[in-house]
Amino acid sequence: MGSAAIRVENLSKTYGHGDSAVRALKRASLEVQPGEVVGLLGASGSGKTTLLQCIGAIIDPSGGRIRLDGKTVYDNGWKTTDRRALRRDHIGFIFQRPYLVPFLDALENVALLPMLQGRSDAKARRRALELLTRLGIADRATMRIEQLSGGQQQRVAIARALANRPPVILADEPTAPLDSHRALSVMSLLYEVARDFGTAIIVVTHDENIIPLFQRLYRLRDGVLREEAGEGRPIFPETRGV
Ligand SMILES: Nc1ncnc2c1ncn2[C@@H]1O[C@H](COP(=O)(O)OP(=O)(O)O)[C@@H](O)[C@H]1O
Ligand SMILES: [Mg+2]
Repeated sequence: MGSAAIRVENLSKTYGHGDSAVRALKRASLEVQPGEVVGLLGASGSGKTTLLQCIGAIIDPSGGRIRLDGKTVYDNGWKTTDRRALRRDHIGFIFQRPYLVPFLDALENVALLPMLQGRSDAKARRRALELLTRLGIADRATMRIEQLSGGQQQRVAIARALANRPPVILADEPTAPLDSHRALSVMSLLYEVARDFGTAIIVVTHDENIIPLFQRLYRLRDGVLREEAGEGRPIFPETRGV
C-alpha cells in the first residue's frame, strides 16, 4: 500500500474564521496510483480547486495528511520549509487557461522552468523540443503564443507541466476552453503521459463528454469527497501519435 503516488487522508480546509468561515474540504481522502488518471467531479463551489491547490502545496490545508511518492509532505503542517521546491520537483499543473508567457515562443515557455532550475539552456531547450514533438506541435516551437490556437496553447501548457518529469499532474478543468474534439485529444494525451511516464493524474472536470473516459472517479459535494461506484468503466481507447 506504500506505493500510491498521491495519498490524501482526512484533509480539511477552512477559509476564514468565525461566522464567515467556509469549510471547503471536510476530511477528504483519496489515493492515486502511479500511471493512473482519475476524474474529480463536483458542482461549482464544491471544493475541487481547493483540493487540488492543497495537494499541490499552493494553499495551506487546515488539517489532515498528504503523501506524495511515498513521502509525507503534509501532516497537520508542511514537512518541508521549501514548498516551492516541493511543487517544482513533484507536481505539474495544468489550469483551465494555459497561462503561458505571451512574449516567449512555445519552446521557451516549456524550457523556462528547467532553465530556472539551473539546467543548461541547451539541455532545457532539447527537453522542451522533445516534449513539443511528443505532443505533436514541434512545428509550432518558434511561434509566439498568440499565434497558436487554443488547443495548441493547451498542448504547450501540458508540455510545460511535464518539463520537470513530475510524478504527479494536477489538472483543473483542462478541457474547459476546448471544443469536444480537442477535449478528447487532450484527454488522450494525458492518458499517454500517465502510461508512458507513470505519472499520477487528477483531472477536475465538468465536461460530460470526457467523464465516461475515466476508470476511476471521485465526486465532491459541499466539501465531502466520495469515490463514485464504477462498473467496469471503459479504458480510454489506445491512441498513438496524437
Ligand atoms: N480564497 C478563498 N477565500 C474564501 N473562500 C474561498 C476561497 N476560495 C474558495 N472559497 C470557497 O470555498 C468553496 C470551494 O471553492 P472551490 O474550491 O473554488 O470550488 P470549485 O473549484 O469546486 O468550484 C466555495 O464555497 C468557495 O466560495
Ligand atoms: Mg474550481
